[in-house]
Amino acid sequence: MDRIEEIRDKIGQCDDNIIEQLVARMRCIQDIIEYKKEKGIPILQPEQEKKQEDNLKRKLGDNPFEEEMLDIFKYIVKNSRRIQAKALFNYNIFLIGFMGAGKSTVARELKKQLEMNYVEMDQLIVEQRGMAITDIFEEYGETYFRNLESNVLIELQKRKQTIVSCGGGIVVREDNKDHMKKNGRVVFLTATPNTVYERVKNSTERPILNNNMNVEFISQLLEKRRALYEEAADITVATDGKSVSEICDEIVSELIAYDLRLNKKES
Ligand code: S3P
Repeated sequence: MDRIEEIRDKIGQCDDNIIEQLVARMRCIQDIIEYKKEKGIPILQPEQEKKQEDNLKRKLGDNPFEEEMLDIFKYIVKNSRRIQAKALFNYNIFLIGFMGAGKSTVARELKKQLEMNYVEMDQLIVEQRGMAITDIFEEYGETYFRNLESNVLIELQKRKQTIVSCGGGIVVREDNKDHMKKNGRVVFLTATPNTVYERVKNSTERPILNNNMNVEFISQLLEKRRALYEEAADITVATDGKSVSEICDEIVSELIAYDLRLNKKES
């Protein structure tokens, strides 16, 4: 055989070995999830990922391909998270709650932790209409905006494994609750009126608050909507005084507990 063909042959064998080893590794990930679920151990353990990374760096200490290997392992870990998320959350996750409850911030962090897709509903509306939310309210009024919102929600039913950060008023239309529940779980993020005020006071992008930027108005509107949020919610997580990663951990474990209860009821 030609020398080059010999080398290519060897590369092919290496690929076979890599595939075999990666499949074995991915199966281990699935086994770990099952074990953690069974024992009620937190699924996401960033400190374990860090330990693994340190071990890897030590092992690759004077490897001539250290940089390339670390890069490859970054993708391996990323895809492990994807496998975890697939096993845990085979549905969309809708984050609902009042303006300033932290929906977008939490959605971005959850996306990173779980390697799921992420969609910002307001952003989709802005892209589709080519207009800012404040302009849509001003030119066409709130009812028109709510129609756009419902249409986007219906379109989102085609998506899989997507974290959706909803607009704060998504619950004002009864049908929206059903659209979300069709292929998703609904997570209600709460925050006190004071916390909301602190988080949104400098924003001018929320037409509903633009001439009402005060704790009293926030408090009244929140009370008016509270029952609607609660009715739509599968789980509720308070955000006051918590870090984003604490909130995400709580969402993950609450969703797992919710699914376990659901499975038990069904079986
Ligand atoms: C609204 C909340 C906003 C946006 C629109 C209306 C509301 O979204 O959809 O300004 O009625 O609560 P955020 O909650 O993301 O600010």
